[in-house]
Amino acid sequence: MPPASPVLAAEITEIAAGLGAAPATISPKYFYDAAGSVLFERITRLPEYYLTRTERAIMQAHGEEIGRQVGRGATVIELGAGNCEKARRLCALIEPGCFVAVDISADFLHQAVDGLRAAFPALDVRAVVTDLLGELALPDDIPADRRLVFYPGSSIGNFDPPAALALLRRMRALLGEDGALLIGVDLVKDAAVLEAAYDDAAGVTAAFNLNVLTHLNRLLGADFDLAQWRHRALFNRERSRIEMHLEAYADTLVTWPGGSRHFRRGERIHTENSYKYPIADFAGLLERAGFASRSCWTDSGHAFAVLLARP
Ligand code: AVJ
Repeated sequence: MPPASPVLAAEITEIAAGLGAAPATISPKYFYDAAGSVLFERITRLPEYYLTRTERAIMQAHGEEIGRQVGRGATVIELGAGNCEKARRLCALIEPGCFVAVDISADFLHQAVDGLRAAFPALDVRAVVTDLLGELALPDDIPADRRLVFYPGSSIGNFDPPAALALLRRMRALLGEDGALLIGVDLVKDAAVLEAAYDDAAGVTAAFNLNVLTHLNRLLGADFDLAQWRHRALFNRERSRIEMHLEAYADTLVTWPGGSRHFRRGERIHTENSYKYPIADFAGLLERAGFASRSCWTDSGHAFAVLLARP
């Protein structure tokens, strides 16, 4: 079957190029098909995956202070809003006038936004479908003053530091002088704690990683046999990042319309990086992106940080 749209055709070219590269790579954006989104929500509830609940606890503990600094009636712009669960908690804390949910996935987003509208009938809720790697332009009718860009969950960790800096600059460009950025960042720590968070005992992260192959089988018409691949999560200390890979158990040939790739036993496909920062390094990135004053809150174990940065 020919690809349904030029967008899909470009994606397929990009995926095939990644599979052909040395080492092979798949972009983490392909984790999030319907099944992958459900698996990710399960990850956020795993005992080993401390990120989500630690961020929630920090926001809860410092909610009053965050609310005081942001003030009521702001326009919140959440990047990668997903199911809007974090949005609900934030809206309860800071009572914004307008909430803009930005995500790449339209189906998921519109449903989530309807839920948010039902929960906050007085709130002006908008949905914007766009890729964060693109221009990050918002429609003209979104209020321009007192904007708060909200980027929780350590999603910034998926970008290498130069790309993270570029994204922070694009966020800065969405804000006037009276705006702010509220961002969650995972902090560097013991390798064993990090590796457990990305290789849980119940195997949910393994299923999440392997599911990307099912997604590619569908998108690309590839013939990945999931039984040939195992999940790997390794902390790369030099680069300060968790790396997720899929490793071939045995020599295996993968084919798709227009291409193929032979993998040797033990060969890996790199599927994700999740960067972990010392707080000072992340503060340095914020400064270089044009943010000056900031507040920083962490948990008692310094596992995770929530920062409020201002231009
Ligand atoms: C959604 C990018 C923040 O890096 O922790 C979780 C994705 N991958 N477990 C992360 C993820 C495996 C997650 N982010």
